[in-house]
Amino acid sequence: RRLLTTGGAAGAVGLALGATGGAVGHAVAADSPAPLTGLGATAVPFHGVHQAGITDRAQAHGHLLAFDLLPGTDRRGAAALMRRWSQAAAAMTAGRSPDGDTQAALDAGPSSLTVTFGFGRSFLTAVGLADRVPEALEPLPAFADEELDRARSDGDLFVQVGADDALVAHNAVRVLRRLAAEAARPRWQMTGFNRSPGATARPMTARNLMGQIDGTNNPVPGEPGFDEAVFVPQGGEPAWMAGGSYVVVRRIRMLLDNWENLSVERQERVIGRRKSDGAPLSGGDERTPVDLGARGADGALAIAGDAHVRVAAPESNSGATMLRRGFSYADGLREDGAPDAGLLFVAWQADPRTAFTRVQLKLSRGDALSQFVRHEASALFAVPGGCDPDGYVGDRLLE
Ligand code: HEM
Repeated sequence: RRLLTTGGAAGAVGLALGATGGAVGHAVAADSPAPLTGLGATAVPFHGVHQAGITDRAQAHGHLLAFDLLPGTDRRGAAALMRRWSQAAAAMTAGRSPDGDTQAALDAGPSSLTVTFGFGRSFLTAVGLADRVPEALEPLPAFADEELDRARSDGDLFVQVGADDALVAHNAVRVLRRLAAEAARPRWQMTGFNRSPGATARPMTARNLMGQIDGTNNPVPGEPGFDEAVFVPQGGEPAWMAGGSYVVVRRIRMLLDNWENLSVERQERVIGRRKSDGAPLSGGDERTPVDLGARGADGALAIAGDAHVRVAAPESNSGATMLRRGFSYADGLREDGAPDAGLLFVAWQADPRTAFTRVQLKLSRGDALSQFVRHEASALFAVPGGCDPDGYVGDRLLE
């Protein structure tokens, strides 16, 4: 086995299936004269302290889904579902054919497939575990200017699927849907994308559909404070969430027709960074720390008072820190002809009350970007830590 580093903002490390990589079904055979490319062969381990799909690089294709339990599914039924799902996810992410395979991905390698599972507040009450609802899972407050579609918000169970190949991602969704069987039915599904690995000459931070380099000032795995900001510590509360994280999902439509009519200079003022290379307007290059106090020759703040990076920064929010790992979406046209496109915002944190909620309250009151976006759907889930090969995601809660 050989370790492959695929690069990207979050420093993804994948495991490439080599000649001995257990290549049943999808992956390359031992004597294959033409091995899969790095893209197809790269596998992200399913098992571990944390679930996959959080600190690894966001893949080119993503599906976010919520399921609701069907009436009659109790704690045992939910545990059986999580076991079926975990076993299938473990197989598919290693490039093996799972039970119930639809075979749409048969010729492809794992392609960095990750599958991440979470629980909504309503899940815990439905299976009789209301007394184990984490305090951090309290419903998000209402924010100014949001226009939430309840049918595309919330849900009992959360599934995030990501892969660098569209067929691999789609197949994983179908397999999980089939395995949900009589236990749960889909509530909503959102599909998104990021730049494909290899599309740029070197690994670079991706751009969103507004054209901005997005993700620069994310916390970096391995750096001081990262684990505390993103994961519930061992010994933290509740015990079943140790090693887990809370995910906030927001479908944020971009008013692209309005945005694209702004001059690049005004667009840069809205964010506080240069569009071409992501450098802060306080100077330097993309990686130069933002200097919120810097002033131009005219004495005005280099980064405007309502610039997105100022209003969202930890310094402006008592240190609030989250890991943003989203997908762009483009779902065709709305009735008025405007693009139905934007950002599937996905943010990971140890406690949303002191991270997403704090920042979004501030943004909804004075962020220059708000007039160009609309929050249309919202959900919050508790994402437990990872499981062992003989366990399943959520076993510490459901056993
Ligand atoms: C930074 C875009 C929504 C939190 C940024 C940056 C861009 C951006 C271009 C600068 C590069 C970077 O550091 O990543 C957007 C767009 C949004 C959006 C287009 C909506 C469609 C949000 C939301 C939140 C948020 C809803 C949280 C509630 C942050 C944070 C930073 C950031 C914390 C880093 C600030 C810093 O420390 O410099 N965003 N953002 N963003 N954004 Fe957003």
